[in-house]
Amino acid sequence: MNETLVASTFRQDVLKGLSAPHKYLLSKYFYDAKGDALFQQIMRCPEYYLTRAEAEILVLQSSQILQRCLDVDHPFDIVELGAGDGSKTIFLLKEALRMNGSQQYYPIDISPDILSYLKQTLTPKLPGMQISSLAGEYFTQLEQLQTISDQPKLVLFLGATVGNMLPDEALQFFQQLKSFLREGDHLLVGFDLKKNPQTILNAYNDAGGLTKAFNLNLLHRINRELGADFNPDQFTHYPMYDPIAGSCKSYLISRCAQQVTFDNGTVIKFDWDEPIYMEVSQKYSLADIHQLALQAGFKQVDAFFDCRHQFTDVLWRVPNSELLPGQ
Ligand SMILES: C[S@@+](CC[C@H](N)C(=O)[O-])C[C@H]1O[C@@H](n2cnc3c(N)ncnc32)[C@H](O)[C@@H]1O
Repeated sequence: MNETLVASTFRQDVLKGLSAPHKYLLSKYFYDAKGDALFQQIMRCPEYYLTRAEAEILVLQSSQILQRCLDVDHPFDIVELGAGDGSKTIFLLKEALRMNGSQQYYPIDISPDILSYLKQTLTPKLPGMQISSLAGEYFTQLEQLQTISDQPKLVLFLGATVGNMLPDEALQFFQQLKSFLREGDHLLVGFDLKKNPQTILNAYNDAGGLTKAFNLNLLHRINRELGADFNPDQFTHYPMYDPIAGSCKSYLISRCAQQVTFDNGTVIKFDWDEPIYMEVSQKYSLADIHQLALQAGFKQVDAFFDCRHQFTDVLWRVPNSELLPGQ
């Protein structure tokens, strides 16, 4: 998408969300340059166990992961959806290079800023790895990739980014993703597991206020890019976790009756205490994950865990079409 189209889609999505009966914003827009930097800080904060748990899996088990999907005699592409800064992926990429399994890495991300950071920081650490960044939405970039390479693929979707979809959306997402893959291609997906509700809630309500700032940053972005006049101080951050549904949702709550005007004259009114739904971070049980793989038409090959079983990276394969389900 060119820049003008990206900007007009952003405007349409924001105005649609804020005009809905229950106001919402799309979390994919959190990631401007400031949002990227805040997310990197969140990943390092004490409450956000997810990054440390997944890093542990990739540091200690990348070799096993690759052995489960790798045919070393045939080169394959490593493609990453929502790659972020690649700070965990590097462990798997190093191992792939060492095993002589792959020299081609395609990180896809909606944020061009984080992709240039990734390329700058990873390139000197991965001599021999060709890094070709694809900036934009997941499926647009996968379509683009089809015109560039037809090698077998290991697709990574790490960091529990799948959790930013509700389970039904995740199912649709994986069904669509499968249409870009071929038999024998692999997918490594990071899921955050259901656990003590307070541990989960704390991860999205850190004492340092980083998650709050991450949410409020979207209002700053809207002001800057869409000429709006949000006063972010007039909104509070409200995260909540439902341990049965496994969904941790964050909201911004309007602290007063107020209105926000956009540069095209659109006025959005907020009631006192009215919420804006910002993001879901969905948690899964192992049974939920198995079920999701089956429904989406993948075969689960293996599951890798950190030592505390807080997080899992599961390896799925696109099965042979002539084999029966459950093969
Ligand atoms: C939760 S972060 C995870 C980053 C990284 N995978 C990790 O584990 O640290 C999600 C990443 O996905 C990107 N992203 C979100 N929605 C996207 C979309 N629709 N298309 C492409 N990238 C997206 C964001 O820019 C961000 O870098």
